[in-house]
Amino acid sequence: VTLKKVEDFLQPFRLSMEKLREVSARLRKDFIRGLSKRRHSRPPVKMLPTFVRSTPDGTERGDFLALDLGGTNLRVFHVRVEDQENVRIVNRKTDPIPTEKKKGTGNQLFDFIAASLADFLKSSSLTDQTLPLGFTFSFPCDQKDIDKCILVRWTKGFDCSGVEGEDVVKLLWEAIKRNKPHPLPALSSNISSIDMVNDTVGTMMSCAFQDQSCEIGMIVGTGTNACYMEEMKNVKRMEGEDGRMCINTEWGGFGDNGSLRDIQTEFDLELDRGSPNQGENQFEKMISGMYLGEVVRLVLVKLAQEKLLFGGELSEDLLTQDKFKTKYISQIEEDTTGLEQAWEILLKLGLPASPEDCEIVRMVCSTISTRSAHLCAAALATIVNRIRTNRGLDHLRTTVGVDGTVYKKHPKFSQRLRDAVRILAPKCEISFLDSEDDSGKGAAMVTAVVPRQPKGSW
Ligand code: BG6
Ligand code: GLC
Repeated sequence: VTLKKVEDFLQPFRLSMEKLREVSARLRKDFIRGLSKRRHSRPPVKMLPTFVRSTPDGTERGDFLALDLGGTNLRVFHVRVEDQENVRIVNRKTDPIPTEKKKGTGNQLFDFIAASLADFLKSSSLTDQTLPLGFTFSFPCDQKDIDKCILVRWTKGFDCSGVEGEDVVKLLWEAIKRNKPHPLPALSSNISSIDMVNDTVGTMMSCAFQDQSCEIGMIVGTGTNACYMEEMKNVKRMEGEDGRMCINTEWGGFGDNGSLRDIQTEFDLELDRGSPNQGENQFEKMISGMYLGEVVRLVLVKLAQEKLLFGGELSEDLLTQDKFKTKYISQIEEDTTGLEQAWEILLKLGLPASPEDCEIVRMVCSTISTRSAHLCAAALATIVNRIRTNRGLDHLRTTVGVDGTVYKKHPKFSQRLRDAVRILAPKCEISFLDSEDDSGKGAAMVTAVVPRQPKGSW
């Protein structure tokens, strides 16, 4: 009886293929709106031009620096491109981003980045060189050029003052010139240029270096987003009709105008109310790692209050925001060890669980992570269907470069995504290429392909 009641309770999270097709069609309309000229003022899906006009052709060579500011870590790389088989990370460094830097002033954040870069140059004995730098910055930016990039808004829990509306490249150059608190004789003389890329673009570019049919980059990690190669003639916001340009969709903002209200549950609305960017990135909040654990927690609390779980008991931890981590979902959904892990995790949260409780918690996790994979599939279907019709093809074969902890660490996410996208985009055959340190390598690739682009034509 309890299981049946829980099933009914979870029904709003189960989206039929029909509904997913509808979601995909709505996103298609938002893509067109985002690409249109000067559009109604705030399109929910921003469709940002990236100034990347070509994917690598495999002939790029040289030494590059790359910075990668993701959701949790700042990474610095020295990348050497010798030939197509040999894109080597000569050296790397990872620094966790301290919470206070995510919410302090912009100058503090950029000084932290410059200091980390200076340390890296010293420890890798690169202080006598001048190298181009690719900067992967995984936030929505209105790019005016490859090296002029205005932050539209912070996402993923970042909230540094004085950065929104500013040129991120300028802020990084200024910090490099300030060169503190780790003065290096002349840090600025070590950097010849700074090119900006979103993490989706970095991922696509480095996967494209290995597999030239890769023209989509997708992230399902702390946040979610994708980019793809769009026909220039459809990018109405930019002059020029020829060739293609990579568009950073910022699909996380889908639904910000209320268009997903029919599929949002009471839990999605509650999560949004408790988030720092209320009303923003509604699609991302149903999909990505920053939020999935919290949706599960809210559902578990309600099930316990309805006396369908834990004999109606609650614990302080279960009542605390963000205490149920997204990585628990991956652990609980493991085939062989999942139920045992569920029991241990729940105990740690102060909840001695019965075997039936563990089953129910696993059912909740799997329902919510499946919804995430299916929504992602609907959005990816929008992209591949669009590329196919753009090119007037009956059948499209393409490759997607993918990164992010949810995609990589969840035991079933990628399979569920593939199965659903096959149904939602039946005329497209998609290969998925998992990326390894790719957005760092990709930033280097962007830096490498930039000189080949016809400057001045944008
Ligand atoms: C990393 C990329 O591998 O994945 C980053 O190098 C990207 O650029 C990140 O932002 C996304 O995953 P997560 O899970 O760290 O948000
Ligand atoms: C957020 C950011 C976006 C990024 C994504 C994945 O949605 O706004 O720019 O690509 O997270 O990291």
